Amino acid sequence: MKIPIAKPYIGLKEKKYIIHAINSGWISSLGEFIDKFEKTFSEYIGVEYALTTSSGTTALHLALTALGVGSGDEVIIPDLTFVATANAVAYTGAKVVTVDIEEETLCINPEQIEAKITEKTKAIIPVHLYGHPANMEEINKIAKKYNLYVIEDAAEAHGAEIKDKKVGAWGDCAIFSFYGNKIITTGEGGMVVTNNRELYERMRFLRDHAMDHSRRYWHTEVGFNYRMTNIQAAIGLAQLERIEEIIERRIKIFNRYYENLSSLKGIRLNFTANWAKNVYWMVYLIIEDFDYEKRDMFMKKLKAYGIDTRPFFYPISDMPMYEYSTTPVTHLLAQKGVCLPTFHDIKDEEIDYICETIAKVLESFRS
Ligand SMILES: Cc1ncc(COP(=O)(O)O)c(C=O)c1O
Repeated sequence: MKIPIAKPYIGLKEKKYIIHAINSGWISSLGEFIDKFEKTFSEYIGVEYALTTSSGTTALHLALTALGVGSGDEVIIPDLTFVATANAVAYTGAKVVTVDIEEETLCINPEQIEAKITEKTKAIIPVHLYGHPANMEEINKIAKKYNLYVIEDAAEAHGAEIKDKKVGAWGDCAIFSFYGNKIITTGEGGMVVTNNRELYERMRFLRDHAMDHSRRYWHTEVGFNYRMTNIQAAIGLAQLERIEEIIERRIKIFNRYYENLSSLKGIRLNFTANWAKNVYWMVYLIIEDFDYEKRDMFMKKLKAYGIDTRPFFYPISDMPMYEYSTTPVTHLLAQKGVCLPTFHDIKDEEIDYICETIAKVLESFRS
């Protein structure tokens, strides 16, 4: 057996829409699929505006820039996240300030945010890690008290909910990624959503090289080309039209892993808070007595059985570009987490095989 960690779910509809886009001649960043994808996505999330971008990273950079975040400012992010969250802040010249995560949700711990707020703090970026929502109600209370912007990083959590309201609809704006391993994909691509018309207009302006609306090729600011192509949007629309099916399958995949593995001692799988809908972007295991060395050995052993896995992210504050932070939960869990194959087409027999192998390999660590 050879089981990858992730695999896109591309069907006939995606191919049909791609051909339609190509035949229309609109292969760059104008075209009907861009408009339809943005409109359908905003309706799906339950917000007024959605703007396609070339990636989740550029969506984050665009949002931060449009909100006026820059040199001399500080932006709060969780210490456990993909590096793009931090890098987008660094691109603006602002300082990355990391906060520890909650042990259960793996998302930013709202109780620890206030201690990191200074005169310079301009925004908070909660990350809905591995498909589980961050505690937006608490985060928004803090943001309101200190007059901070909230940018949700929902790159890994399309369709996740807090009390029936989708992530992406909680902050001043939110970003999504459509990289090939995400819940829905456009190959590479991103989206930024908001209810704020002024912010939307500003992001659209900056995304297209900040070109003057009434004077073509006249620019008064340095903007970007962060656009998505119509061909990518064609794939995205087809994916979005069956996102419910995709999420349902992910929940079933998690349940099968859970049935097989939850009785094993010293491990735990994804947690879901009672206020949350988890979309299980990645099913993961946290193995109690693991450190980096044991974790890497465990992954290597699974690889020998044809099972691809991936480690949790390293703490951002351990990376040389960013300031070290004392974040005990992040530093502990980063060493113990392993993500398991989670993709639409994985067969139940493959999940069972993975679980049997995990039990066997874990046993070998303990005997
Ligand atoms: C939490 C998080 N933020 C941001 C990104 C950046 O998205 P992209 O890879 O589309 O630039 C990713 C994904 O890769 C991510 O996982």
